[in-house]
Amino acid sequence: MPVIRRAAGDFIGYCGLTVGRASVDEPEIAYELFRRVHGQGYATEAASAVLDAAAATGRKRLWATVRPWNAPSFRVLEKLGFERDHVSTEDGVELVWLTRLLR
Ligand SMILES: CC(C)(COP(=O)(O)OP(=O)(O)OC[C@H]1O[C@@H](n2cnc3c(N)ncnc32)[C@H](O)[C@@H]1OP(=O)(O)O)[C@@H](O)C(=O)NCCC(=O)NCCS
Repeated sequence: MPVIRRAAGDFIGYCGLTVGRASVDEPEIAYELFRRVHGQGYATEAASAVLDAAAATGRKRLWATVRPWNAPSFRVLEKLGFERDHVSTEDGVELVWLTRLLR
């Protein structure tokens, strides 16, 4: 889904659910915002809304997969209550799996 700032009305990136490496019942959360708007809490705000929407569909758990060096993404997920679950390897690169239970 597009992320649009309420006041400015401009498109700044996307945030949503994807089957990705997970499943329809327990999908992955994914997000990417333009660099010029980083560090203002927008990813956390958008992802929080996606968490609520996922819970409203009856989903019980979400996943996220993050490259080990992506500190901003880990921080966003930490702020949202995700916890590290396991590590896999894809194309020779580690991938950290995080998960969060939904109410
Ligand atoms: C990940 C991403 C969406 C975060 O967007 P954002 O709007 O800047 O995120 P927020 O402002 O909500 O939160 C970022 C947090 O990371 C922290 N952070 C930023 N750079 C950091 C670093 N190098 N080390 C540690 N923490 C860092 C910020 O301080 C902030 O935490 P705080 O609120 O405690 O200060 C953005 O960096 C992005 O689009 N990256 C490229 C795409 C990507 O990596 N997507 C995720 C793939 S898993």
